[in-house]
Amino acid sequence: MSKTRKDLMDAFAGESQANRMYLAYCQRAEDEFMHGAAKLFRALAEAETIHAAKHLRTAGLVKSTRENLQNALAGETHAVKNIYPEMIAHAKEEGQKSAEISFDYACKAEAYHAQLCQEALADPDKFPVQDYHICKICGYTAAKDMPDVCPVCGANTKAFFKV
Ligand code: FE2
Ligand code: FE2
Ligand code: FE2
Repeated sequence: MSKTRKDLMDAFAGESQANRMYLAYCQRAEDEFMHGAAKLFRALAEAETIHAAKHLRTAGLVKSTRENLQNALAGETHAVKNIYPEMIAHAKEEGQKSAEISFDYACKAEAYHAQLCQEALADPDKFPVQDYHICKICGYTAAKDMPDVCPVCGANTKAFFKV
């Protein structure tokens, strides 16, 4: 891999992290009633998204939707089968219960993400525009109807928001 190619990937990773970090900071600032700081973090988060997306596109990694769905499916599946199980084992070994739960929720939610990507891949042209209900505790994502109880974390319907 050329230095520039690696730099594009590193810059994409760094800018993506900055985006999510600033959104988390924005939420904290809202909780602390510092609405000016919250708005600044929201603006910076948007700007870092622009940087991240440009680096990714420049690296040639935004392809056709069919290829992107395949890549998403591969990534979600890899997270479920390899990445999170290993992280869960580490957290168990070290007695880090909250990290174990964080990894476990993500691992289980990613399995549903993989399933949705699989369904879309079957016929991307005809895949319907539909509502999604996302659990804000664990990231479980339901297509169409909202479940009464989150199958991953057990949260009730109040924990869901619609996309
Ligand atoms: Fe940036
Ligand atoms: Fe996912
Ligand atoms: Fe959940």
